[in-house]
Amino acid sequence: MAPGAKVVHFSNEDDDQFIIHDNKHASKRRRVQNGVHEREADQPNDRLESSRPKAPTQKQEKDLQRRKQELFEFRKNLPVFTARDQIIKGVQENETVVIVGETGSGKTTQIPQFLLECGIGSPGRGAIAVTQPRRVAATSLAKRVAEEVGTTLGYRVGYTVRFDDTSSQHTMIKYLTDGMLLRELLSDKLLLRYSVVMLDEAHERTLRTDMLFGMVKEIQQTRKEMVQRGEKNVCELKIVVMSATLDAEKFSEYFNGARIMYVSGRLFPVKVYNTIEPQSDYLDAALVTIFQIHMRRPKGDILVFLTGQEEIETLTALLTEYAGQLPSNVQALLPCPLFAALPPAQQQKVFEPAPHNTRKVVLATNIAETSITISGIRYVIDCGVAKVRGFNAKIGVESLLVHPISKSSARQRMGRAGREAAGFCYRLYTEPSFGSLEENTIPEIKRCNLAAAVLNLKAAGVNDVLHFDYMDRPSRTSLSRALEQLYSLSAIDDKGTLTQEGNQMAEFPLDPVFSKVLIQSQQYECTSEVISIISLLSVDSVFFTPPDKRDNVAEAKKRFVHPDGDHLTLLNVLKSYWEVKGDKEWCRENFINMRNIKIVLDVRNQLIQFCTRMGIVSSTSAGNETDNILKSFLSGFFQNTALLQPDGTYKSVVGGQTISIHPGSSMFGKRVEAIMYNELVFTTKQYVRGVSTVQGAWLPMAAPKYFGNSKLASTTTT
Ligand code: CDP
Ligand code: MG
Repeated sequence: MAPGAKVVHFSNEDDDQFIIHDNKHASKRRRVQNGVHEREADQPNDRLESSRPKAPTQKQEKDLQRRKQELFEFRKNLPVFTARDQIIKGVQENETVVIVGETGSGKTTQIPQFLLECGIGSPGRGAIAVTQPRRVAATSLAKRVAEEVGTTLGYRVGYTVRFDDTSSQHTMIKYLTDGMLLRELLSDKLLLRYSVVMLDEAHERTLRTDMLFGMVKEIQQTRKEMVQRGEKNVCELKIVVMSATLDAEKFSEYFNGARIMYVSGRLFPVKVYNTIEPQSDYLDAALVTIFQIHMRRPKGDILVFLTGQEEIETLTALLTEYAGQLPSNVQALLPCPLFAALPPAQQQKVFEPAPHNTRKVVLATNIAETSITISGIRYVIDCGVAKVRGFNAKIGVESLLVHPISKSSARQRMGRAGREAAGFCYRLYTEPSFGSLEENTIPEIKRCNLAAAVLNLKAAGVNDVLHFDYMDRPSRTSLSRALEQLYSLSAIDDKGTLTQEGNQMAEFPLDPVFSKVLIQSQQYECTSEVISIISLLSVDSVFFTPPDKRDNVAEAKKRFVHPDGDHLTLLNVLKSYWEVKGDKEWCRENFINMRNIKIVLDVRNQLIQFCTRMGIVSSTSAGNETDNILKSFLSGFFQNTALLQPDGTYKSVVGGQTISIHPGSSMFGKRVEAIMYNELVFTTKQYVRGVSTVQGAWLPMAAPKYFGNSKLASTTTT
C-alpha cells in the first residue's frame, strides 16, 4: 500500500480494528490553506446568453420517450412516489406545505413533476420554480428531470444560474439558485410567472433562502388579496418548503402554521467510526483511510467530504498517483472530484457508475451532504469541517473560514453511506469532538455580511430592512453595518433610499463591492483590466500545485510578479497566457491551471457582455494603468485596507487589528505605506490574501463618505 508508517486508531472496532496509518508523504505537502475563495452557489463560469431552446425534433422525440420510459421504472421505486396523491392533495388544499424527507427519497426531482402533472403548474397559471442553494445542484437536477419528463433541457424543464440561463418561455419546471430567484424578483416583483415556488434545501438556511422566505411570504399574501379583489391574470402563489432534516416546526410556524408532510425514506444502518486521537491533518488521514478501505473492505464506492476545490484537487492528485501503484490483483481506484467550479462534463462523471472492477472515490464539498445523491456509495469519510462564511459585525470584517460542522450535518453525511445498503462512516475526529459540535448549523443570515442582501431587499422594494419579516432576525449591529457599507459605496443615500448607482449595482451578478469596482473603473478608464482581474479572482488559483513540486511552482510564480502586488501579478499571468496564445507546453512549464484559466476567460466574456448591456464601455487604460486599476479596486475594497506601523506590522483601517501578509502573496515581506486586500483568513494569525500596494492619500478619495471622519487618523497613531 502506498502510504504507511505511524498508526491512528478508530473507535467502534467491534469487528476488526480500523487503523489509519500515517502518510509518509505528508511532509512533502504543505498544509492546505484555509479560507480559499470559493462560492458554492453562483460560481460564475457559464454562458450568459440563453441558448433559446427549441421543441425537440421528431427523431429526438423518439429517443427522449425511450429514455423517459427507462427512467420511469426507477422513479416508481422512489419513496415519494407512493406519497404522490397525498402530496398533490396537500398542495392543492394548502397555500403552504412543508415537506420533510430523507435525502434521496425523490423530493427535488419528483415533486415538481407531480405538481405539473396535476395542473398546479401550467402554462395558464404559471411555472414551477425550484430553488437550490448551489449552482451545481440546480444544473444537474434540471438535466435529470428533463430526461425524466422526456424533454430537451431548456424546453419544458430548464435551469437558471448566474451567467447561464437554460430556460425558455415554454419552461414549466425551472431549477434555479436562490440568488437567481432573488434577481428575478427585481423585474417580476410578484413572481407572476410562477404558480408555485419550491424552496428546497430549506434546512441549510442560506442567506438567500432566508431572504426568499420573507419575500415569498409577502408575495403570497399580496397575490391572495389580488385574487380576492377579483383581479385578472393573477393566481394564488403556492409555497412548498422542502427540507432533509426533521426540524420542520420552525418553518411551519413561520408560514402561519403550514401543513407538514413527512415522506418516509429508506435508510440502512450505518456503522460509525471515530478516530481515537484527534487528527492534525485530515487530508492525510482521509488519504490513508481511503486506501485502507480499498484494500480491506468489500465493494462499494467511497464519498469523502472536504472543504473546497484546492483540497479536493490536492487529494485527487495524490490518489491518482498512488492508485497507479496498486498491485495488479487489486481492483482499480477512480477519483472523482465534485465542487462548484468543476466543468459540467466532469461533474457528470460523478453520477456515472464506476467501470468494471473499479472503486469510485468521490471527493466532494458539502454539496453532497443533501443537495445531490450519488448512487453506489457505501463508505463515507467525514473530515468534520466545512467552509463557512463568517462576519464580525462589530468590526465589519468578512471571512471564509473552515469551521466544524454541526451534529445535524455530521448525521447527514453519515446517512449518505446507507442509501442502498448497510454502510460505514469514518469520522476523522474523536467521539468527544462530535459531542462538542453545535446541534444545528447557525443560519447564514446570523453570520455573514448583509450588504448584498440589504441591497437586494432594497432593490426589490423592501425599504425598511430593519423590520422585514425574517425567520431569524439578524442582529441590529450587522444590519446597521450593511447599511453603513452601502452608504459608503454610494448605493444608498443618507435616508437609506437606493441611489441610481445602487440600482445599477443590484443588477450586476456580483457582490456590491465588486460591482462598485467595475462601475468605478469607467472613470479610471481601465474597465477591461478590471474585468480581467475580477474574473481571475473568481477561481481558487490560476496555478496548479502538484504536492511534490511546491518549490518549482513558487519559482514559476516569481516570473509573473508585479511590484505593486497580487492584483497586477494576476493580470500579468493572463497577459502572458495571451502572448503565447495559451500554448500547452508553456502552461505546463509554468504550472498554469488551464482548466481554471478557461473558466476565467469564460467569466470574463460574460462580464464584458453584461457591461455592454448595461452601457458600460470596456475601455483600456491609456495613462497610469497600474494606479488606475488599483484606485478602481480601492473604491470597493476601501474597508479592506491596512497601514504600515512604525514596528513594521500592518494595522487594519477598519477595526485596527494587527494583520500579516500571507506567505503566498507576492507582497509577503514587503513594507509599503498602505495595502489593500481581498480577503482576511484566520489561521494561526490574521492573514490577508490578494494584497496590493496603495497610497494612503488615495483612501479619502476612494470613499469620501467613509473616510470623512477621523478613522484614518486614529489608525495611524499606534
Ligand atoms: O431531493 P431528494 O434528496 O429527496 O432526492 P432527489 O434529488 O429527487 O433524488 C432522487 C433520486 O434520483 C436519487 O436516488 C438519485 O440517485 C437520483 N438522481 C440521479 O440518479 N441523477 C440525478 N442527476 C439526480 C437524482
Ligand atoms: Mg433534494
